[in-house]
Amino acid sequence: MGKALIVYATRAGETRKIGELIAEGLRFSAIDVQLKSAKDIKKKEDLAGFDAFVFGSATYHGEMMESMKTLLFLAENAGLENKIGGSFGAFGWSGEAPDRIYDTMKNIFQMNMAGTALRLKSSTLGGGLKMAQDYGREIAKKMEP
Ligand SMILES: Cc1cc2nc3c(=O)[nH]c(=O)nc-3n(C[C@H](O)[C@H](O)[C@H](O)COP(=O)(O)O)c2cc1C
Repeated sequence: MGKALIVYATRAGETRKIGELIAEGLRFSAIDVQLKSAKDIKKKEDLAGFDAFVFGSATYHGEMMESMKTLLFLAENAGLENKIGGSFGAFGWSGEAPDRIYDTMKNIFQMNMAGTALRLKSSTLGGGLKMAQDYGREIAKKMEP
C-alpha cells in the first residue's frame, strides 16, 4: 500500500478541511494517509517514508503562510526528487499560495507533480468537496505502479 503525507498551513481552518477531503480521496483508493499541520513538521526526518506529498497553504496578503515557507525550506534537503506531489489551498480572490508551492515542488524539489495546483474558495460550496476528493484520487492514480 502506498503512503501519502498531506501537510497544511491554515489560519481559519478552511485549508485543513480541503486537506481532509484530499485525504478521503486518497483513502478511497486504499492509500495510507497522514494529515499534519506544517507546524508539526520539525525536521526533515518527519518527511521520510512517504511515496507522495501534498502541501497546502491559505493565501494571505498575496503569499503562502510562514509555516509553509519554513516547511518548504526544510523539504529542500529531504530527498523528494521524483516523489509524487500536489499542492492546494483556500483563497479569497487572488490565491497565489497553491501555485507558489506547486512551482517550488516542481522546480526546486524536482517532484513528479499532479497536473495542477488545487485552488478552492470553499471546501463545501461550488463543487469544492468533489474537486478536493477527486484531487486525492488523481494523486492516488499517479502512485499506481
Ligand atoms: C487579512 C486577510 C488577508 C487575505 N489576503 C488574501 C489574498 O491576498 N489573496 C486571497 O486570495 N485571499 C486572501 N484572503 C482570504 C483567505 O485566503 C481566505 O479567507 C481563505 O479561505 C483562508 O483560508 P484558511 O481558513 O485556511 O486560513 C485574506 C484574508 C484575510 C482575513
